[in-house]
Amino acid sequence: MNDLHGKRILLGLTGGIACFKAAELCRSLVKAGAEVQVVMTEAAAQFITPVTMQALSGKAVYTSQWDAREGNNMAHINLSREADAILIAPASADFMAKLIHGKADELLSLTCLARPLQKVPLILAPAMNREMWAHPATQRNVAQLKADGTHVLDVGQGDQACGETGDGRMLEAEEIVEELQAFWTPKCLAGQHVLITAGPTYEAIDPVRGITNLSSGKMGFAIARAARHAGAQVTLVAGPVSLSTPRGVKRVDVRSAMQMNEAVQQLTANAQVFIAAAAVADWRPALAADQKIKKDGSGDTPELSFVENPDILASVAQTARAQSGALFCVGFAAESHDLLAHATAKRARKGVPLLVGNIGPSTFGQDDNALLLVDAQGAKEFPRDTKTKLAYDLIQDIAARLVKH
Ligand code: C5P
Repeated sequence: MNDLHGKRILLGLTGGIACFKAAELCRSLVKAGAEVQVVMTEAAAQFITPVTMQALSGKAVYTSQWDAREGNNMAHINLSREADAILIAPASADFMAKLIHGKADELLSLTCLARPLQKVPLILAPAMNREMWAHPATQRNVAQLKADGTHVLDVGQGDQACGETGDGRMLEAEEIVEELQAFWTPKCLAGQHVLITAGPTYEAIDPVRGITNLSSGKMGFAIARAARHAGAQVTLVAGPVSLSTPRGVKRVDVRSAMQMNEAVQQLTANAQVFIAAAAVADWRPALAADQKIKKDGSGDTPELSFVENPDILASVAQTARAQSGALFCVGFAAESHDLLAHATAKRARKGVPLLVGNIGPSTFGQDDNALLLVDAQGAKEFPRDTKTKLAYDLIQDIAARLVKH
């Protein structure tokens, strides 16, 4: 995943034990394609060395406003103009208190104050003991920082280095990277509620066996993440997959097509967009045995008979909200050949305005895919790319359709 490509991030470290996580964060930012310039306060250097941060960022670290490396000796001006964002992680209680007063008695706070407000966003990842975080002074400072236009990230909850447990941990590196990626995504779905199905379903034969399919859920999860980054409220109804929930997405786990159907029917009432990316089993065993079906040694095989599952997408597409345009429905088609013909026919059969075709065998379980978007006007291709990138493109495309209809 490379979606911070070309972003220049000034990573500021202030004093706190969470500085140990800043090393991982720096690495993750670089891995995501960002160019990272580290600035550390004197207190931060008590917790982690500039040597470590230099090695991980690939750039000499700044720690002093008197750094003679700068020709004009104005490190605070130069650094703040060379950044697309300033990210302070960890942001200590003390540093936040300084920021609200516009104090500028060392390089990092000086750089924050000197930054062009409209061009260089300031993002804070607070980290401190739970009592310090809960203190009215800190909460007052957070409110003031937000009022001043600073983007203050949430804190994590759990065990703290001091031995206490509660709110105040710095978010993990991957969560902060995720927040930055979301930060830079245009909010084309702000105020919308998007409901997504993803993954396979599992249809039990008996308590230990069942039928399922090779869908990994990766495309649906990537779409949920992209929709969230685009500002939507997202609910993801997931079949049995081993994927972690995208940050900020509400996940409802189901196993069978019947359970998925029940969950979806309840959740569509509040949604403006329904994206059916799940590979729902067409049939389920007519009777799931209560006990494991035993091999009896006779050579006889069990008689299995099947009944058809409800078509979740087609039934949602028939509802009054979908028919009136209040709920925009998007279907998927996983085909093995003749994608355009099958996707076109499926769009008509399901009664949806947009159907997204892909070649099942060449995408199931993979991190990349190619999409064919079929609507009433015709078809267009999204050529092979990562599912992450395709999901962003698809969400933008859907958002543009919402504006039109
Ligand atoms: O008919 P087919 O399974 O190929 O249709 C695929 C599309 O319909 C996908 O969007 C899938 O999520 C949806 N679907 C559904 N309920 C089913 C079968 C498919 O929602 N029972």
